[in-house]
Amino acid sequence: MKSESSTIKEILPTLRPKVIYEVILTTKSRQGEINAAPIGLRFIDQMLSSLLLIVYKGTKTYNNLLDTRVGVVNVTRDPSVFIKYLAGSKHEHLKEEIEDAELVDAPRLKNAEAYIEFKVENFSEEVKKGYFYCTIVKAYKGIGIIEPYSRGSFALIELAVNVSKIDPYLDQGIDVSELLQGIVYCIKVLEKTIGETLMEEQVKALFSSLSDRSFSLLRQHLSQLGIHL
Ligand SMILES: Cc1cc2nc3c(=O)[nH]c(=O)nc-3n(C[C@H](O)[C@H](O)[C@H](O)COP(=O)(O)O)c2cc1C
Repeated sequence: MKSESSTIKEILPTLRPKVIYEVILTTKSRQGEINAAPIGLRFIDQMLSSLLLIVYKGTKTYNNLLDTRVGVVNVTRDPSVFIKYLAGSKHEHLKEEIEDAELVDAPRLKNAEAYIEFKVENFSEEVKKGYFYCTIVKAYKGIGIIEPYSRGSFALIELAVNVSKIDPYLDQGIDVSELLQGIVYCIKVLEKTIGETLMEEQVKALFSSLSDRSFSLLRQHLSQLGIHL
């Protein structure tokens, strides 16, 4: 059965323009290969009818959006989903956890809390990034989850963002010392708020997304501070 379509304001009434929201973006290549990745978005108008995605060149998401011009924003507040779809093993989860979207020819996650199906209306590019201006095709609710706020959720998302920036920063010759400091801080918060076992599990999954070069740089930095993972 198809879900009832609504405006973004009805489905996600607290959203604000210009705020960056972290979501899982699901897309498909021209050959039909499905993909999911954590991406930030912001709505660019007061009516929340169009959104902007800024995506690094060289990612599958960038290529898929450019080729097929559609995708799905999967809204979830579960930080482990962000780790899962950044980790090196993400393709193991994709087959089981993905289904077809309702209107656009793209996949969506099975258990998201809300969905925004969109099409790319305009595109511009810089040397390293593409700007995808998108309009909403359909917005609807998924499953509802109620969970108390945990500092661990914030720290996991922040950790994932910092880790995901190491490779592109090194490629562009940008100093990574702030990223490394951020990672150490997040690991300390996680140790305190979600416990060592779960922290290690999530951190290892995240580190599996790194190139060998970034991984050894990070491991060396952490071990100098007595953090051995
Ligand atoms: C919370 C979060 C937000 C992210 N936002 C973006 C973004 O807005 N643009 C981008 O290019 N990469 C972003 N990334 C990094 C991508 O998820 C990462 O490069 C990923 O490996 C791309 O996967 P793909 O090649 O399958 O598309 C983000 C990562 C995290 C953890």
